[in-house]
Amino acid sequence: MQSMPPKKKAAAKKAAPKKTTKKAPAKSAASKKKAPAKKGEEKKRTVKAFDTLRGMKDILPKDEVYWLKSRRVAEDISGAYGYGYIQTPVLENAKLFVRSIGKGTDVVDKEMYVFEDRDGTKVAMRPEATAAVARAYIGNGMRTKPQPVKTWYYGPMFRHDRPQAGRYRQFNQFGCEVIGERDPVIDAELIVVSYNYLRDLGIEPIVHVNSIGSPEDRQQYIVELVGYLRSKRTYLCDVCKKRMNKNPLRTLDCKEEGCQEVIEDAPQIIEWLSADSKDFFMKVLEYLDELHIPYVLQSTLVRGLDYYTDTVFELYTEDGEQGSQSALGGGGRYDMLVEQLGGQEDTPGAGFSIGIERVINTLKHKESAEQATDQETTPKRAAFFFAQLGVQARRRALRLIEELRRSGIFVGASLSKGSLKNQLELANKMGATHTIILGQKEVQDGTVIVRDMDSGIQEIIDHKKLEKHLVKLMKED
Ligand code: HAM
Repeated sequence: MQSMPPKKKAAAKKAAPKKTTKKAPAKSAASKKKAPAKKGEEKKRTVKAFDTLRGMKDILPKDEVYWLKSRRVAEDISGAYGYGYIQTPVLENAKLFVRSIGKGTDVVDKEMYVFEDRDGTKVAMRPEATAAVARAYIGNGMRTKPQPVKTWYYGPMFRHDRPQAGRYRQFNQFGCEVIGERDPVIDAELIVVSYNYLRDLGIEPIVHVNSIGSPEDRQQYIVELVGYLRSKRTYLCDVCKKRMNKNPLRTLDCKEEGCQEVIEDAPQIIEWLSADSKDFFMKVLEYLDELHIPYVLQSTLVRGLDYYTDTVFELYTEDGEQGSQSALGGGGRYDMLVEQLGGQEDTPGAGFSIGIERVINTLKHKESAEQATDQETTPKRAAFFFAQLGVQARRRALRLIEELRRSGIFVGASLSKGSLKNQLELANKMGATHTIILGQKEVQDGTVIVRDMDSGIQEIIDHKKLEKHLVKLMKED
């Protein structure tokens, strides 16, 4: 996107609408303007109305229920899991995305809106928000805050891709990022939040998950993969023949039939993972099992952005208008990103983003606008907060929270927050009436402590009776 050269400007001026006697279209506001009368003769001006740019669209009042609901549910679920709102600028230094998303990726090489601003600075309209959140974490000294820092965002992103169903040049994302801690429970929580976000909106998601290990694990794997792809070169599509040398991992998610057949027998990345990455991934899966979150182990899932390490995931739905090929959302771990962007070493991170247009298309396809206004499907803000202490308690808490959510009781939590003090502060900030506390002792006893946040009075309740007890408290409120 360069500014228009003077010659073109002159040409554009020439092409300006001419006076004409043709009847102007009734809808054109400009056509209502009176044309100057010439020697008693009425002349009308036809002014061509503007359209949106290709791949961009207006959000109109007719879709208000969908848009407001998609944002309200994002706000509710982020608040309930202890994420703070963040908003980064739409324009950033272009290098931020080149360094993080990576040269050789479609987003950077083909899709970024890049131009020089009036000061000659090369800027980009953000194609995604993760790199910008990492920049904000570094630049605003968030490393000194209690870790991890959990943020959520909702806003427009820009990619100059070929528009088609569910693919736009300006689109909106709801996303969450957790920076400053490496723990499989964070990956599981992010999958749970993205999964529950879609469920709260009335969409049944399918989670695809994989691990791509560390860059070192990947290096060895790529050598193996390229060797295999070379031996099958004749069966690959032209794009994959090029990708094979430039970005071989991307061949794994090619949708061409010939490539799919080749990929079926390709070496699997999981076999090249280090013991640490394998162990980490197994723990993420164990959490998902415990929470009864259905997932598909997708060995070819690699994602299209360079910053990922270890866990990667995507969310699909069967009834999407866009077809099963386009993901509603995706994310993963990015343990090197903060350091790559000039932040402190060993600052891990993980996150996800969900494409709102794809969500709304799916909802429209699935239900009528009347149903979308039905408030019953929108969970209430958390009245309860779940605080946990210790690994065992964290694990049990995840399950109890999900059981309560499935019974319609919305419980806030921040499963990666270590200290009870931090968790109680968050419970207060969220306006929780009661905090459910689970420590090592309670795990062994099969109980929890339910603390009244106003009076400080605590009761010990059996796990099996917790749901009933919370229902009773809700009625009293
Ligand atoms: P992504 O997979 O590039 O990941 O985008 C996430 C979601 O945004 C997609 O699944 C899709 O729903 C939506 N999306 C992407 N491109 C378009 C488009 N052209 N038109 C409509 N919707 C689109 C990311 O952006 C990462 N930042 C996710 C992440 C967060 N990873 C870690 N943290």
